[in-house]
Amino acid sequence: MTLARCVVAVDGPSGSGKSTVSRRLAQALDARYLDTGAMYRAATWAVLQAGVDLGDHEGITKVVLDAEIAVGIDPAGPLVEVNGTDVATAIRGPEVTAAVSAVSAVPAVRQILVTKQREMIADAERIVVEGRDIGTVVSPEADLKVYLTASVTERARRRSTETEADHHSTAEDLARRDHLDSTRATDPLRQAPDALVVDSTGMDIDEVVGKLKELLTSR
Ligand code: DC
Repeated sequence: MTLARCVVAVDGPSGSGKSTVSRRLAQALDARYLDTGAMYRAATWAVLQAGVDLGDHEGITKVVLDAEIAVGIDPAGPLVEVNGTDVATAIRGPEVTAAVSAVSAVPAVRQILVTKQREMIADAERIVVEGRDIGTVVSPEADLKVYLTASVTERARRRSTETEADHHSTAEDLARRDHLDSTRATDPLRQAPDALVVDSTGMDIDEVVGKLKELLTSR
């Protein structure tokens, strides 16, 4: 399936399957792929590395302004670097995950990263962009806006490993991040009025990617 210029925005809460689905859709469309969550995570890694307090918005902003955050757009192997250091693994660790909602709630941080995201989108011919505010703020003119969701139980199951205790703490962590991400003052997670809602509860990856391709061709 090859389309001319096209931007697909995929928003939704943590664990909804956005990353896997967006990457797979980008490959199917021969498009680029932008994981905006990786940019907020890389910014958070830089803040933690600098030892800045999470309540110090000015300090956080300065670190993020000075950091060279590079996020690749190849759906086959996303690259994430901060000042030339490969942080692709570190940004998925518990320290960054615990701090990322606080850093991404700082308005100046969002301004810096949204500007970068818009530039990257403008440079790409076809691109699938995933995040929380893509259809509402970053690219309101996207050709297709999807709000991908799933029940909290299913999202926790996807995120956790085998044990019951792990499942429980993952569900709590997801609920905490959902709350922080959707109640922050600047660009909270919310559904764009013209977004198409896809509830992936009980669906496998192939079914969700198939559904998105179908939505795209019918537009
Ligand atoms: O998609 P993710 O879990 O890797 O995102 C990490 C965090 O970044 C998430 O808790 C909210 C924030 N985020 C955001 O505020 N805006 C985006 N466009 C993408 C992510």
